[in-house]
Amino acid sequence: MSKSNFFKTLINFTKNLKTTGAVYKTNKKVERDLCSKIDESTKVVVEFGTGYGNVTLEILKKLPDNGKLYSFEVNEEFVKTVKQNIQDPRLVVINDTAQNFDKYVKEKVDCFISTIPFTLIPKEICIEIIQKSYAALRADRYFCKAQYSKLHFKKFTAIFDYCSSSSVLDNLPPVYIYYCKKTKIPNRLKGKKKKRLLVLTKK
Ligand SMILES: C[S@@+](CC[C@H](N)C(=O)[O-])C[C@H]1O[C@@H](n2cnc3c(N)ncnc32)[C@H](O)[C@@H]1O
Repeated sequence: MSKSNFFKTLINFTKNLKTTGAVYKTNKKVERDLCSKIDESTKVVVEFGTGYGNVTLEILKKLPDNGKLYSFEVNEEFVKTVKQNIQDPRLVVINDTAQNFDKYVKEKVDCFISTIPFTLIPKEICIEIIQKSYAALRADRYFCKAQYSKLHFKKFTAIFDYCSSSSVLDNLPPVYIYYCKKTKIPNRLKGKKKKRLLVLTKK
């Protein structure tokens, strides 16, 4: 990356700190880890927080030729830059909040990838985004989220069926990646089934 691009990113991320929640884009390891659940069977990916499109490019690298990527970004200037710099027929960049993704994405989703700062977004909106994403996700697929702390992990474990996390310590600041899976039989039902089974076996 050229020196001028480095400073442009640094200045624009810092200037918009209230919505970016970061001073610079995430590093290569975070990009790769976030995209680790995309494979040749992935058809539709939804990204929350395009920024300057670094994770977007990694998604496109892994996405099959017939795939589709919807990327949501609230900052109009970032959207303009990405539309100019990344011309890929599989990519649709949308200048709107993640909360509204279901107005645009009508098909089932194979993977959600999010770098939006939950710490700066009201709790009820975070929960709405997670719930809507869970509903739109295909079974056996993942919502992958980069976050600077594990404070929001519980919001995901309350809705998703299986969640794990890893950390990338050489990002500045270090980042946690949440991997949240929707399973074929939701955990809530598994619990109910278990209870019913216990009642049945007691009888
Ligand atoms: C930490 S930056 C990450 C940018 C880039 N994906 C990366 O990994 O470097 C978060 C981005 O999310 C955008 N953002 C914040 N809140 C959002 C929301 N509710 N919906 C969509 N984008 C949002 C910000 O404008 C910013 O570009």
